[in-house]
Amino acid sequence: MAKLIQNPEDISSYSNFKEIIQKEVDIDVSLDFEKKQMIGTMEVKYEILSSEIPKIILDLKGPEIVSIEYAVKNEKKENAKLIPLSYEIDSENQYKDSLGTPLIISLGNVEKNSPDEFKKLSQSKLLFLLIKFITTEKCTGIQFLTKEQTYTKKYPFMFTQCEAIQCRSLFPIQDSPSVKSTYKVKTSIEKPLTFLFGGIKKNSYLDTKTNQNVTIFEQKIPIPSYLVAFVAGEMEYGKISERCGVWTEVGLCQKACHEFKDAENYIKIAEEYFNHPYEWEVYNLLVLPFSFPYGGMENPNLTFVTPALLAGDCSMSNVIGHEISHSWTGNLVTNKNWKNFWVNEGFTIFMERKLDSALLGEDMENLESVVGNNKLISDIKMFGLDNEYTKLSPDYGGNDPDDGFSSVPYEKGYQFLIFLEKLIGKENFREVMQKYIKKYRYKSVDHTAFKEVLEELIKEKFKDDSKKIIDEINWDKWLYEKGIPSYKCKFSSKLLKEAESLAENFLQEKEDKSTVLKTFKDWHTNTKLAFLNYLLDNKSKINEKIAKNLKSELNLAEEYNSEIKYMWYLIALDKKMEEEIPNIEKFLETHGRLKYIRPVYFAWIEKDFNQAKKFFDEKKYLYHPFARRIIQEKFNKGK
Ligand code: BES
Ligand code: ZN
Repeated sequence: MAKLIQNPEDISSYSNFKEIIQKEVDIDVSLDFEKKQMIGTMEVKYEILSSEIPKIILDLKGPEIVSIEYAVKNEKKENAKLIPLSYEIDSENQYKDSLGTPLIISLGNVEKNSPDEFKKLSQSKLLFLLIKFITTEKCTGIQFLTKEQTYTKKYPFMFTQCEAIQCRSLFPIQDSPSVKSTYKVKTSIEKPLTFLFGGIKKNSYLDTKTNQNVTIFEQKIPIPSYLVAFVAGEMEYGKISERCGVWTEVGLCQKACHEFKDAENYIKIAEEYFNHPYEWEVYNLLVLPFSFPYGGMENPNLTFVTPALLAGDCSMSNVIGHEISHSWTGNLVTNKNWKNFWVNEGFTIFMERKLDSALLGEDMENLESVVGNNKLISDIKMFGLDNEYTKLSPDYGGNDPDDGFSSVPYEKGYQFLIFLEKLIGKENFREVMQKYIKKYRYKSVDHTAFKEVLEELIKEKFKDDSKKIIDEINWDKWLYEKGIPSYKCKFSSKLLKEAESLAENFLQEKEDKSTVLKTFKDWHTNTKLAFLNYLLDNKSKINEKIAKNLKSELNLAEEYNSEIKYMWYLIALDKKMEEEIPNIEKFLETHGRLKYIRPVYFAWIEKDFNQAKKFFDEKKYLYHPFARRIIQEKFNKGK
């Protein structure tokens, strides 16, 4: 087999989308919970871009291919004839563990069996493939949960997570964010389960022959493959507003509707900032079982979130603000490859904080920015200052882009945008954002798209001074400088000062108990986190007595908010508080968000490698394959 090359436009994909590009995808899927399989047929419409008729190279990592056929269409656009095609799977690909084993489809049989059709192809430039597939246990983008792993423990559950490059583990596809297509999906599942796709529900009925619930979905806005999302289980739905709602496991819906009641507000504020409507019509959230490895995932029409957001007090709704913001930055204007991931996430953090600023005040925005900056510095130190992944725009080579996942694209990207906003002023910057969204929606871009709109506006507004201003922006330095950014954003926050001064007094045991508790209790979660961050940064000053005070006086162990709880466990593990181990075990058995479990496991490994390993070995199958891999790798490295 000829050696495959990574697509230079997106080195995380082998697909030849410059020669032939996927336009429409039609999928018919069902599930076998016993065998833990998703079984499907997809019909894909491609457009040929090259002058010759090319082979079709698709990304693939895990699924079994049952058959691939060429569909000859009649005038009514029905399949008049199916021609089986031959294909090869490159199982010797040097990056098979990260990028997969691509599929190379030859149209040779069309030329042989139907020369007329082949000739027509050179003119029409359009072709349809029918692919049958079945997922296998190697498919890391899909997780099947047993009923014991769900909230009611009554029925099994399934969900997918495609970002960054896991769509290829559901079915063969041009798995690059450079490629956008529309989708039509038909799901079938036994009663009383619901099987959803991230699109608009068109129709739903009970097939009395099979006794299956059938639902048809459509995604008319072209989307990249990483936004493809499926979920199935026993679920209920509640409305938040005319266009917003929540899906949850049975029993959680009321709580979730209350928790996410700000969704509509967030959308309205974002619409106003961008001066561009929410184009996706419906905004639904889906609360997953706890093994979901992220806080949130912006799947169109169906944002996935961790159940850990159900804190009871809306204190973690910034995650909702973030995912909603992706409806513009990310889902309308999309990064064209993973080197430009910051173009999705940096812009979205920027918007998330604009929304929080509108709802909670500017000081909250500053507080979040400082906390974000601390996280940035700690992640950069974790990688090492000279690591490729500390660049805003890194080169992933043949690695899985998920391996480079950190706060760098988020916070460095955010700081770059704040720098630009300061440079030209808030109103001008907002105008750039508005023009950028209008011009590039439905497209996939790299940073040059924004640069172009920005420079155009600077020229228009600053006339003679524009050259000087444009020269002040050192794009290369922002994009490719390793380590901590040399430009220092100065965020100052009153709330932060308050949090840090109380934390310092607490360390020095200056403050009386009731004052500390009263102040702490009334704070917003973000301020509490700033307080705990300060303590963690000064953990050498925490003695046994202070640690005990922390728990008993601030009721940290009773906190329902997982964000605060996990920070407390980091302190407890650092202080080797054996009596907290049962609580930590309980936490790790009921949380799957990597943001929490990774640092907690890492701190536990520091404290007691064998104790942590024994627990992980017993419980690892509770976790999502991705989370499991990340933590397993740490254990593999040894102490
Ligand atoms: N799109 C990301 C999640 C993601 C990124 C999944 C890369 C897989 C690969 C999502 O929008 C996100 O950023 N989630 C954050 C939310 C936070 C920044 C408020 C998370 O899950 O922590
Ligand atoms: Zn995001």
